[in-house]
Amino acid sequence: MTAHRPFADPVGEDRPLVNPAPNTEPVQELPAVFRRYRPHIVSGLRQSLASNHLHVYQMLRYSMGWSDANGRPAAATVGKAVRPTLCLFACEATGGTVGSALPAAVSLELIHHFSLIHDDIQDRDEMRHHRPTLWAVWGEPKALVGGNTLRVIADTFMWRMAEEGVAPDKALAVVGLLTEAYLEMIEGQYLDLSFEGRPDIGLHAYLDMISRKSGALIRCALNLGALIGSHDAATVRAFRECGRSLGLLFQIRDDVLGIWGDEEATGKPVGADIMRKKNTLPVVYAMSRAQGRDRDLLLSIYRGQTVGDDEVSSVLEVMERVRAREYAQSLASEYREKALEPLSSVELAPEARRDIEEIAEFLLVRQH
Ligand code: IPE
Ligand code: IPE
Ligand code: MG
Ligand code: MG
Repeated sequence: MTAHRPFADPVGEDRPLVNPAPNTEPVQELPAVFRRYRPHIVSGLRQSLASNHLHVYQMLRYSMGWSDANGRPAAATVGKAVRPTLCLFACEATGGTVGSALPAAVSLELIHHFSLIHDDIQDRDEMRHHRPTLWAVWGEPKALVGGNTLRVIADTFMWRMAEEGVAPDKALAVVGLLTEAYLEMIEGQYLDLSFEGRPDIGLHAYLDMISRKSGALIRCALNLGALIGSHDAATVRAFRECGRSLGLLFQIRDDVLGIWGDEEATGKPVGADIMRKKNTLPVVYAMSRAQGRDRDLLLSIYRGQTVGDDEVSSVLEVMERVRAREYAQSLASEYREKALEPLSSVELAPEARRDIEEIAEFLLVRQH
């Protein structure tokens, strides 16, 4: 590679993913494939936000977990980097290099963070990654600008593919697919918000919504990695199909964690989805299964004005009676199997097959 190579020097930011509060159990470890790519991803992310001292970038560095609200370096909790890890994995597994997929991987993570900043405003969530959210610290108007800024940085960063030797026609296709994916993600966010409080959302509508709001970027991550790494259209399609099921699996587990997770591990409020009258899978399922007084109760809560602790407890009791948690986990488990199927016809090194199996298993049982 040329002396220009921007990603040759991971800065070794491989600090623990989370800093659990004293006297708490360590948070579940990520699979090895996440640890392998992490220094590259952190280095790329740092470069994407490095050179600007305008206040908005200070806000964004806080959002990434690198500084506190006053701009002082911080070892705060950071995200899992699921999407860039999937992208780099797919590229290497199909014969490409980490460097060639890194601009796309970093852009995916920036788009993800843009979505989190806006999502926390939309969901009125004041905590994420164990810290106050951007809008809770700086207010909604500035947080909106922060999210938009990240989106544009992501768009711009993609073009570093040229420096990494990605052919122009591939680079164009990659940019087009990422743009398409985050449009779909935004459409999914709209659906998620418009489903709030509705008692008539069935499984089909729910799956369509999550396949957009969370599925689109995850599907895109595997798609982009394979597209950069491989020249074989069937291989690229197989990775994309794998991503389709992984995205559903990911969000179903996220729904479970939002209700029955441990805040010490997730770093975000548990129970908030019910308070917002979100149509998560356990709710959709409970609505379809509950009968008699249980059904009336759910309907009156979802149609009512405000949901407090008592209503949350009542919803939880109904969910327990219809075994909504077990249902959600079993559907997630089906998607884990489905995710691996398309790759069975792809020639992969044994290590790559083990990596994707570990990723799928982690997404099924993750605690954070
Ligand atoms: C959370 O995603 C937001 C959703 C799309 C459900 P992640 O769990 O991947 O977020 P990180 O790991 O905190 O960045
Ligand atoms: C987030 O979904 C989806 C996007 C940010 C696009 P959720 O609202 O369900 O995720 P959390 O639970 O806040 O992370
Ligand atoms: Mg949210
Ligand atoms: Mg949301």
